[in-house]
Amino acid sequence: MIAADDNCPPLALRTRWHAARTHTLALAAPLSAEDAMLQSMPDTSPAKWHLAHTTWFLEHFVLGADAQPFDPGFARIFNSYYQSIGPRHARPQRGLLSRPSLARVLAYRAHVDDAVDALLDRDALTETRCQLLELALQHEQQHQELLLTDIKHAFSLHPQQPAYRDDLVVSPREVGDCKWRAQVGGDISIGAAAWPGSGCFAFDHESPRHRVWIEPFALAHRAVTGGEFLAFVREGGYRTASLWQSEGWDWIQAQGITRPLYWSEDESSEFTLGGPRAIDVHAPVVHVSWFEAEAFARWAGARLPTEAEWEQAASTLPVAGNFAEQDALHPRCAQRDDNGLAQMFGDVWEWTASAYQPYPGFRALSGALGEYNGKFMSGQLILRGGSCASPVSHLRASYRNFFKPTDRWQFSGIRLARDA
Ligand SMILES: [Fe+2]
Repeated sequence: MIAADDNCPPLALRTRWHAARTHTLALAAPLSAEDAMLQSMPDTSPAKWHLAHTTWFLEHFVLGADAQPFDPGFARIFNSYYQSIGPRHARPQRGLLSRPSLARVLAYRAHVDDAVDALLDRDALTETRCQLLELALQHEQQHQELLLTDIKHAFSLHPQQPAYRDDLVVSPREVGDCKWRAQVGGDISIGAAAWPGSGCFAFDHESPRHRVWIEPFALAHRAVTGGEFLAFVREGGYRTASLWQSEGWDWIQAQGITRPLYWSEDESSEFTLGGPRAIDVHAPVVHVSWFEAEAFARWAGARLPTEAEWEQAASTLPVAGNFAEQDALHPRCAQRDDNGLAQMFGDVWEWTASAYQPYPGFRALSGALGEYNGKFMSGQLILRGGSCASPVSHLRASYRNFFKPTDRWQFSGIRLARDA
């Protein structure tokens, strides 16, 4: 039965889960059935696939043996990467899934949602299933952001550069100079207490909480702006091998990369979810890879923060900023902040210097869910803080995102650090 304690408050969870499922539909609403089929590169997925995959996750992990399968064939095409569950359709070929139709995928969502609601009506969710519903909610939120980043990439390649929405909030401001904020070093603790025992949701790879030694350092009070990155571009940053990691240099040569992902060739405009706009030199630069972030930091005489430094600085700050709820879906100029740190949460995911590795004593979730995070700990870097496309309720100081050093279709940006 549902445990009516603080660890898993059933009404709050049910309300939050309903809101998340409804919000995903709202994100897909501006898309036609044709839009929802687009897959522009192997790393991205069609919106229709996101709608179905999150539903499969609920069906498999929450309903489990109680599921009345909507279509037994869906497991093969909507299982993402869970090898222990069964064979899967190849990820780079998700754009070939013209069947099922978008309408049928939406019917699948309603079918599974009704089945979960029926369990909740009967108070038939065990505490374990309640925890799985929480995990499914968090998973749904991750795919909400991916739905946005993936359709943005697809639309950016359309010759007419269509807007995902033409009513997004735009609020231009002017940003002041970047200032350094001194941070104390010492014997600190980072990470989250293990969920579900802790009562506060965190993914398995955020735990255990553990001690780390950091030296005193300084952190930039805001993210690097488009204007600052434009100076790097115009002063030859992409033509100066000494600024780059060897692998990064080879990559920009091979790919012909000379600017952030969505910048126009003349460096005057950038593609946004609201269509092309003039580059906002006051707002954070966005859609840069780790290699570009690292080269910029070297050019600026600084470095990227480690994830321990970042978390220590963020640990006492409220999780507030420009998130998906602000409905800008694009980073905005930092708010005035005379003494503290701005934009630690929201706007852009901030690349760190840290490789994605297990914390000391890490234990993946048991069963197939152990594949959720624990099998990706090679060749990826940590990003922190969430973005303008992240739901605010999804983020916390200990949250670890991870991508390959060449990935740049996420809302990824830069915050500088330097030694004290
Ligand atoms: Fe997923």
